[in-house]
Amino acid sequence: MWVGKYYLTTPIYYVNAQPHLGHAYTTIVGDALARWHRLLGDDVYFLTGTDEHGLKIQQAADAAGTSPQAFTDSIAPLFQKAWERLNISNNDFIRTTEPRHRVGVQKLLQACFDAGDIELDKYSGLYCVACEAYFTEDDLDNNLCPIHKRPVEHVEEENYFFRLSRFEQRLIDWYSSHPGAVVPEHRVNEVIGFIKQGLQDFSVSRKTLTWGIPLPFDESHVAYVWFDALANYITAIGYGSDDAKFNEWWPVNHHLIGKDIIRFHNVYWPAMLMSAGIEPPKGWAVGGWLLVGGEKMSKTSGNVVNPLDLVDEFGVDGFRYYVLSDTTYGNDGDFTYEGLVSRYNSDLANNLGNLAARVATVVGKKCNGVGTAPDPNSPLAEHARTAVADTIAQWEIVQPSRALEATWGLIRATNAHLENNEPWKAEAGPLVDTVMGDALEALRIVTLLAFPAIPDTAREIWRRIGMTTDIESCRIPADVQWGQYPVGSPVEKGDPLFPRRTLA
Ligand code: ME8
Ligand code: MG
Repeated sequence: MWVGKYYLTTPIYYVNAQPHLGHAYTTIVGDALARWHRLLGDDVYFLTGTDEHGLKIQQAADAAGTSPQAFTDSIAPLFQKAWERLNISNNDFIRTTEPRHRVGVQKLLQACFDAGDIELDKYSGLYCVACEAYFTEDDLDNNLCPIHKRPVEHVEEENYFFRLSRFEQRLIDWYSSHPGAVVPEHRVNEVIGFIKQGLQDFSVSRKTLTWGIPLPFDESHVAYVWFDALANYITAIGYGSDDAKFNEWWPVNHHLIGKDIIRFHNVYWPAMLMSAGIEPPKGWAVGGWLLVGGEKMSKTSGNVVNPLDLVDEFGVDGFRYYVLSDTTYGNDGDFTYEGLVSRYNSDLANNLGNLAARVATVVGKKCNGVGTAPDPNSPLAEHARTAVADTIAQWEIVQPSRALEATWGLIRATNAHLENNEPWKAEAGPLVDTVMGDALEALRIVTLLAFPAIPDTAREIWRRIGMTTDIESCRIPADVQWGQYPVGSPVEKGDPLFPRRTLA
């Protein structure tokens, strides 16, 4: 288990268009993980941001008839606002156009240059602007970029190159001595396979472009956007501007990334760091793609779903819960509106929402609205122990859907316990008091376990069952042990937390 400091990052998103569901997905996974680690008692630094240099952004600005600076200044706030709306608790937001980033990128370039790993050379090859990446003939899919299915361009340039080929063995050795660094586990084979195919040096500069950070050793070139972008993970925490802060947080615990950017994060990035004498990351958690009708949702493909529309309809927590629970992190998931409605209704309206409502109703009717004591030997106590252990184990390996499945197991067990005992039909008295005490205690535990996924709702349930502590100051596992419900607390019913939806 990570104890102490936990530094977590999302990719920094290109600001060539508005945030879409795919970005929201990765950022929400990051947020839930950050909140989970805060509950574990870790000191958390959760970073996200925007990737603002390079040809792709330059072209988007040209198309909008504006300067790249004005263009990025208009789009970056859309990401910041979307993350606020989604209740993202990032500690920092880095834009690659910030001065702190520029000085850090230049320091990193200089360090690799001084190590002899950056050299001037000639390059000719195929380039996809949407990826901002080179491809070989073999990589292509019917002569098109394998990711964006768009034509690639032939480019020929004199560039500075990073001697990636020198790092093959060091990278292989590093991965074999750090098992478990990449989750889900099967992704590491992809990384090793890629390295074993043989690594080619990659260009780290552009001469034909001005929208970027000048190389400190040759101002006629700007840094390649991926070299620039990857460095955000260290420049944000002070590399080049605040050594003490940098040393406090690096190496990162988890880079959350999509499978589309494995090569950059698991091959280029650790090699760049090794060259500069900086430790590689401790971990990467690689997510799959959200597909729409079988295709990757992307700005470039134009099949985007706006997350904020879904938030308006399903609430922030309804939407957050759906993206966290519906796809196994690491695999591809299919976004469908029907799937969203069905999961919202079954897990939120019918399970959690229903449990909270019926507990409050019965406590209101049979216990004078005052919370009663759980039985230390309740069968639900055993369910709770299992749910807690499984939930902890799944968050540990960055499996939010499985963690929530474990938590929801306790919700289902509690609803079943109520249905078996039918306290609503029984005479008020000690029997009903115990059943309701058990249900309140299970609901308390579930609420704390579910907090990282549905923070606003969890806070509200916490309040309704009469908890007076601040839910965020609770700790896992200490506060999810059975038997801590404060007997005698006022229990309040309130409006339905998740009103049922029908298909529009
Ligand atoms: O690649 N499903 O930025 P980007 C799931 N700037 N996740 C998705 C997704 C989808 N359909 N579409 C995007 C870049 N993502 C670079 C990153 S990092 C130093 C630089 C998520 O705007 C996923 O996490 O194309 C993916 O890796 C990321 O957004 C790419 O966002
Ligand atoms: Mg992309």
